[in-house]
Amino acid sequence: MTAVPSIELNNGVEIPQLGFGTYQIAPERTKEAVLSALEVGYRHIDTAEMYGNEKQVGEAVRASGIDRADIFVTSKLNNGFHAPADALKAFDRTLDDLGLDHLDLFLIHWPLPGVGDFAETWNALEEIYASGRSRAIGVSNFQPPHLRRILAEGGIVPAVNQIEVHPYLTQDDARAFDAEHGIATEAWSPIAQGKVLDDPTIGRIAARVGRTPAQVTLRWHLQRGDIVFPKSVTHARVQENFDVFGFTLTGEDIKAISALNRDERTGPDPDTFNYTG
Ligand SMILES: NC(=O)c1ccc[n+]([C@@H]2O[C@H](COP(=O)([O-])OP(=O)(O)OC[C@H]3O[C@@H](n4cnc5c(N)ncnc54)[C@H](OP(=O)(O)O)[C@@H]3O)[C@@H](O)[C@H]2O)c1
Repeated sequence: MTAVPSIELNNGVEIPQLGFGTYQIAPERTKEAVLSALEVGYRHIDTAEMYGNEKQVGEAVRASGIDRADIFVTSKLNNGFHAPADALKAFDRTLDDLGLDHLDLFLIHWPLPGVGDFAETWNALEEIYASGRSRAIGVSNFQPPHLRRILAEGGIVPAVNQIEVHPYLTQDDARAFDAEHGIATEAWSPIAQGKVLDDPTIGRIAARVGRTPAQVTLRWHLQRGDIVFPKSVTHARVQENFDVFGFTLTGEDIKAISALNRDERTGPDPDTFNYTG
């Protein structure tokens, strides 16, 4: 089985650099999809209360027969539960739904700067971390100004910042900020939900190296050092997305793909996205 490299987070916890995303997998398809990913060799699953499929992710993890210690499970605090007492309850609910006694990583899903004080929410995550029920804590969709507040007011530096990154949104400034502060960047929507796969530059490189555009794009992320977890409910694609360790892109390839940046988001802008209930 392919060995997926690990990245050491700032608290010493190791995270597999390639995982499996579960956003937009319907609950009734989730157990089968996660089991199929685990069978292919993925050992890192990214879910969230917002995805509505934590129960089924947990069922798959428990039914897989794989040691819990060998699977890295991430979940996220849903919008609407940012008040510290609500965040603590939401974390308990996540563990209950997953049927697990701990998480490997728990994230604030969105900063929601217009809704409440995410620095207070971060204090609740610090309490969870101190209790040992999540091996690491981090944030998602945090821009450098949001992170600056956490760094100034919090006691613990987030282990990761999970943000949208792909060839059309290379996020050079945000990634550099994360790196400067010892925060690992996780790239969500790594293939821009399929939008980058018809790009002629990626297509040309894929043809030259004898790989698919999805494999080339995932390889670009991995060689840039980010953590990725592509989502697919199609078994052949789940396999394809895992088979990204037997080739290397040149420095020129990396540069050419990075030059495709057009600051184009597939999801909301964290500075303006707010939960409205
Ligand atoms: N923190 C956040 O706010 C946030 C936001 C979005 C996503 N995420 C996380 O990031 C994960 C990945 O992002 P994502 O699901 O938005 O998008 P993605 O992984 O970039 O793309 C998924 C889409 O691409 C298709 N696909 C996957 N592999 C393919 C391949 N090899 N060839 C052609 N098409 C392929 C899938 O189709 P099929 O499934 O039909 O095969 C699906 O429609 C999520 O699942 C979630 O865990 C986090």
